[in-house]
Order: sequence, then C-alpha cells, then structure tokens
Amino acid sequence: MRIAVFASGNGSNFQVIAEAVKAGKIDGEIVLLFSDNKQAKVLERAEQLGIPHVSFSPKDFSEKSIYEGEILHLLEEKKVNFIVLAGYMRLIGPALLEAFPEKIINIHPSLLPQFPGLHGIRDAYEARVKETGVTVHYVDKGVDTGPIIAQERVIITEDDTMSSLEDKIHQVEHRLYPEVLKKIIENRERRA
Ligand code: GRF
Repeated sequence: MRIAVFASGNGSNFQVIAEAVKAGKIDGEIVLLFSDNKQAKVLERAEQLGIPHVSFSPKDFSEKSIYEGEILHLLEEKKVNFIVLAGYMRLIGPALLEAFPEKIINIHPSLLPQFPGLHGIRDAYEARVKETGVTVHYVDKGVDTGPIIAQERVIITEDDTMSSLEDKIHQVEHRLYPEVLKKIIENRERRA
C-alpha cells in the first residue's frame, strides 16, 4: 500500500503511524505527507522522519477545485493508493472522493455520530456526558459522517479537566489508528 497522510497541525497521529510503518508493523509505505498549512508542526515531524512532504493552501489557488486538482496530481505522481487523514481540517471535495472510493479514512475524537465537527473533545466535555471516545471512519462528503470502521470508549470522570480528557483521547487515538490501518491493509491484501 502506498499511503499519503494529510494533516493540518501538530501531527502526533501522523508520527505514530509513520513509526509503526517504519517498524514494519504496517505493510505499506508513507510516500507523502501533505499539509494545507505551511506552518504546521507535522511538516517538521515529516522532515525528521525522512518522509517526503508537500504543503500548499487553498488560498494559493483561485478555486478549491483547482487546489484539489493539484493534490490529485501529486497523488498520481506518487502512485498513492490509500489516504489517511490525521487532523486534516478540511472537507474532502468530489474529485478526490471519486478518485479514492473507500480509500480515505479519518480519525475523529468522539463517539460519532455524537459531536462531529472541529471541536469533538470540547463539545463532549461541555455537554457533561459521562463517556466519549474515538472513531475511525471512511470519509464521505459530509462532516464526519462516513461509515464507521472502529470506535473506542473513553470515560469522563468527575476529576477530568479539558486537558486531562484531551490526553486520554489522544492516548487512545495513538493506539487505535495504527491498529486499524494495519487491519485494513491486511484485509485488502488477503482479498487481492
Ligand atoms: C486528533 O484529535 C484527531 O482526532 C482530530 O485532529 C486531532 C489531530 O491531532 N481529527 P494530531 O495533529 O494528530 O496531533
């Protein structure tokens, strides 16, 4: 599997996946890290890990479709056949979705369909629910609406602060995302 990771920010999920690939735990290669944010920390991580990285923003183009066309071109050039979104803060447009059917996954910090959108952790915390969690799902045209692949619960205790809850969620993400990616790739290779 030739994998591209898309990320907009910190990149801790990118890092754990890249390390799992390097350690031979995931049968694939990360051939591209793409970021829509030229200041993102994830670009430094890619540099340190020796992973090819490219960054440009929709603002560099007159239309979003041209921006996505440019990404598509990159993906073709690198012969990418699977995309992992890891904190990529944009909707995926029709051209990319059509080119990669059931081949784009995302991780979201809540038990979807609860608390979709940009602030899954904060929204769950402020709603004072007793549990939240992490979801890995296929990407469709909606906001965090695609078919669910895996979920794991995280209990919110009386003592939790936003920050302790964030830590708990990220710990689960960092275990779950590489595990799920590994399984998806194994299943597809078995079927091939
Ligand atoms: C994660 O919480 C993920 O669930 C969400 O964005 C965050 C990315 O964190 N989609 P990082 O950039 O991987 O550290």
